[in-house]
Amino acid sequence: MTLKESNKSFYDCINERFSCRKFKEDRIKTEEVEQLLEAANLAPTAKNIQPQRIYVVENEALLQKLTEATKYTYGAKTVFVVCYDKSISYKRAIDEKEHGDIDCAIVATHMMLAATAINLGSVMVCAFNEEIVRAVLSIPANYVVSCLLPVGYPEEIREHNTRIDIEDFVIYRWFDWKLTLLGLDLQDAKVQPI
Ligand SMILES: Cc1cc2nc3c(=O)[nH]c(=O)nc-3n(C[C@H](O)[C@H](O)[C@H](O)COP(=O)(O)O)c2cc1C
Repeated sequence: MTLKESNKSFYDCINERFSCRKFKEDRIKTEEVEQLLEAANLAPTAKNIQPQRIYVVENEALLQKLTEATKYTYGAKTVFVVCYDKSISYKRAIDEKEHGDIDCAIVATHMMLAATAINLGSVMVCAFNEEIVRAVLSIPANYVVSCLLPVGYPEEIREHNTRIDIEDFVIYRWFDWKLTLLGLDLQDAKVQPI
């Protein structure tokens, strides 16, 4: 199935995605790999630099070696290793903040949602030994390994983990309280809000 043929709505994809940690034996099809790469390619990146570099690891010997870098490939027969090229990734002008990891997180999210759309299981993995991953895949010095994405046919279907309530993470600013609270200008008064 292609992404365009998927009958899952956007809500279905974000709601049905879960971190899949049990995969069937069969490797996903080349067309399915290509669908995920297409989703990766549609991801926004800072300044549209597109610094992502993605290794598609399907070779049995390499997959086995990757298990020395992480115990979290869960037997998947396809592991995407999402890297960014730090020689071109965006660094914020004001403070040089690196944006490569943010770009890769969005790329990986596109891929995970695309996987859900075509009935594949996926899990984002950041707990790995980067040096071992680099050595196994001969990754050049200017690439940073951002995350691994084991993908396969899910052996388990379950709900995603529970979430906190929206009111527990949202902070609305309906007005500029610094200027209006008690009629004081806290910034001018050099009083720091708690
Ligand atoms: C940045 C990031 C790093 C993660 N690293 C790992 C990991 O190393 N191993 C793993 O099994 N799951 C990993 N996960 C999956 C999370 O544990 C999972 O997304 C979270 O528990 C919520 O569960 P859900 O994806 O089923 O909703 C990671 C997820 C994120 C977003």
